[in-house]
Amino acid sequence: MRGLLTGVAIGLAIIALAVLGGRWWLDQRVTELLARRYDVPLTPLAVPTDSASRAEGERQAWLHGCHGCHDSQLQGKVFLDEPRVMRVVTPNIPEVIASYNDAELARLIRHGVRRNGTGVVAMPVGTFYETSDLDLGRIIAHLRAAPRVTKTLPPTRLYLLAKLAVLRGELLPEAATMDHRAPRLGDRSDTTQAWRGEYLAKSICGECHGPTLHGHLEAPPLARAMGYSAAEFTSLMLDGRSRDGRDLPLMGRTARSRFVRFTKQEIAAIYGYLMVMPTTPQHAAATPVSR
Ligand code: HEC
Ligand code: HEC
Repeated sequence: MRGLLTGVAIGLAIIALAVLGGRWWLDQRVTELLARRYDVPLTPLAVPTDSASRAEGERQAWLHGCHGCHDSQLQGKVFLDEPRVMRVVTPNIPEVIASYNDAELARLIRHGVRRNGTGVVAMPVGTFYETSDLDLGRIIAHLRAAPRVTKTLPPTRLYLLAKLAVLRGELLPEAATMDHRAPRLGDRSDTTQAWRGEYLAKSICGECHGPTLHGHLEAPPLARAMGYSAAEFTSLMLDGRSRDGRDLPLMGRTARSRFVRFTKQEIAAIYGYLMVMPTTPQHAAATPVSR
């Protein structure tokens, strides 16, 4: 009997050690994967200093969702708290960027690469990549003017499911997979309504509806807008109302907090683009992009 008990105890001890060892290995591996550095060169960017540019930068920052994720005053918040998955806390922007120069900040926003070369995970930088130098310069001017207020925030934590996702390559910095040299929509020397519509849709709506606007997670393909008249689409953008009264939980909230800042011309440009955009992802990907 004693022999049996000893055997069971040793067996349990081995299992406990194996579990602890596995956990230790997983933590090491995840830390290693997230600490990888990305070699993306810095490019100088002109940042304006006048108040009109700062005001436009504030509007752009709201449209791009910086205030939605980083809180209305940009001081950070618990952005997502999913038991067993992760708690994502967005940082206090004025505090963090005090040590960034403008080129480093532009690289962070467009390529998701921090000052020290590591990558951010939960920020939609692939969408921001398309942003023009003019708009990004104004956004940075606005960020620089935001008051620096200390706010106590809990740390970001990855729990088991998120760690496993990192290990499987499903939760990695976008810097690891994006094309850092692709032509940028915002760089095109085009100022037509058609270009403006595509630019706004891809650099703003793309965050949730996917880079080619063909849908991602709960956000449907934007071909869904085809069923909307121009007036109904304007109401969707400014009030978050669907044409048939269906509740749009995330879209409604996003429209009311962010898209109310679109001008009528911008809404018309987006609508115009959505009516003619390529309907299959393959076609969209194959559409040549000229600079
Ligand atoms: C969908 C939510 C989301 C949006 C939209 C977003 N961010 Fe972030 N941002 C995050 C999260 C989460 C982090 C923490 C790092 C990470 O993702 O791993 C972060 C990190 C940062 C940092 C800190 C980088 C560092 O050194 O650690 C800055 C600065 C920043 N964001 C600026 C911006 C700006 C400017 C915009 C708008 C153009 C923006 N963010 C839009 C979620 C968001
Ligand atoms: C923060 C995420 C987010 C952003 C940014 C966003 N959407 Fe959406 N959108 C959604 C989600 C999610 C749905 C599905 C309904 C829901 O769950 O709210 C949706 C639904 C829609 C629909 C379908 C409405 C219907 O009748 O079913 C249209 C059209 C649409 N969005 C247009 C846009 C346009 C245009 C933009 C950019 C100006 C945009 N969205 C930006 C998340 C987003």
